Amino acid sequence: MDQIRIRGGKPLKGSIRISGAKNAALPLMTASLLTAEKLVLTNLPFLADITTLVQLLMQHGVHVSMRGAAAGEGEGHVIELTAKEIASTTAPYDLVRKMRASVLVLGPLVARRGEARVSLPGGCAIGTRPVDLHLKGLEALGAEIELAGGYIHARAPKGLAGGHFVFPFVSVGATENLVMAASIAKGDSTLVNAAREPEVVDLCRCLVAMGAKIEGIGGDTLRIQGVPALHAAEHRVVADRIEAGTFAMAAAATGGDVELVGVNLDLIASVAEALERAGVEITATAEGVRARRANGRLTGVDVMTEPFPGFPTDMQAQMMALMAVADGASMITETIFENRFMHVPELTRMGANINVHHASAMVRGVRKLTGAPVMATDLRASVSLVIAGLAAEGETLISRVYHLDRGYERIERKLSACGADIERMGS
Ligand code: EPZ
Repeated sequence: MDQIRIRGGKPLKGSIRISGAKNAALPLMTASLLTAEKLVLTNLPFLADITTLVQLLMQHGVHVSMRGAAAGEGEGHVIELTAKEIASTTAPYDLVRKMRASVLVLGPLVARRGEARVSLPGGCAIGTRPVDLHLKGLEALGAEIELAGGYIHARAPKGLAGGHFVFPFVSVGATENLVMAASIAKGDSTLVNAAREPEVVDLCRCLVAMGAKIEGIGGDTLRIQGVPALHAAEHRVVADRIEAGTFAMAAAATGGDVELVGVNLDLIASVAEALERAGVEITATAEGVRARRANGRLTGVDVMTEPFPGFPTDMQAQMMALMAVADGASMITETIFENRFMHVPELTRMGANINVHHASAMVRGVRKLTGAPVMATDLRASVSLVIAGLAAEGETLISRVYHLDRGYERIERKLSACGADIERMGS
């Protein structure tokens, strides 16, 4: 199983091109099920999760072709998806269990074909991850939902009618499933307390390019006027704000100075605000965003994760690694997931001083972390270990790095190009 070895203590200097966002690419790809015409996505990141979703879409009958971006097409990959016919409306357990975002085929399938049989995704390391809001929302749009044998059976034999749904709390995936389903429902829909994450905005923009009629994009109330069919479109995947925030924190943790190319500051405003409070200078540049340690030590600051535009839960583990080497204390509170502190015991093995009390972790900064063998447990926890390893004295060996590959494209190449002593070791 691949491992990554890091010898810490080298400041990151240089520039890193930020890839397209994984959490935008996945729903954008499932949107191809909504039309019989071709959907072209550019600036696609090349990640394990994308490959998994390609497998799932192909068994639904989507014709997929992928290629590297040609000269002049910018960066990333280009994927073409055409769901001329839906060959199967079943999303099988063996694929869905590999990546729970597979549940995002549910809304498009039941809207396009009037039925879907999607395996319940099951939980993962960070929590039980139920999908009850996805189901209640689809019922509000006119679907009949039944759970049997570990599968969701959704039916709308006369097509979805559209409807009104109020989210009791913000759900990114449920918002995405419902906005896709509503786009070709027979009537109009209103989604209240919808997620406003940039990845949701990116999906809505792509759907509009495909002919959907959506008002309120970027706000928490989406009004969708169902149309009979969507058509071909080309859409560029928005930059990955979580990758950008991750590398900004890596630069800060190593006392470095890095330009994050291809992302703009408003995508990471809440992260930038927290980093500025901690003594990191974040400035907009012509190409993107520059992150550098202003001077001297970092200061411990408190953060609480919240839905966008609050501090992202997907940045919580990375912030904890940074605060582990700051001056003073930092209270980090996780309000979105019930078990997203799996990185704490591993950071502790590297000398971090962290105490968890329910949903909050009290981090007391130490002068230096020391490298150690550690284990990745989930995507963002594993990248917090990379940040800690880059800042630590000595050698860190991270195992189970397949977690990393799900969400970070060629991370060791991007970091070593900025001076990090990092290499992937097959084993
Ligand atoms: C998306 O997951 C992201 N994944 C997650 O990123 C991200 O952490 C999360 O949004 C929050 O921003 C993708 O976009 C593929 P939610 P999602 O529905 O849609 C509960 C990463 O590291 N909930 O907003 O699953 C849920 O358990 C991943 O890239 C219900 O109770 O998140 C959680 O506690 C991790 N019922 C909270 O709501 C539901 O029906 C927010 O979940 C749905 C969600």
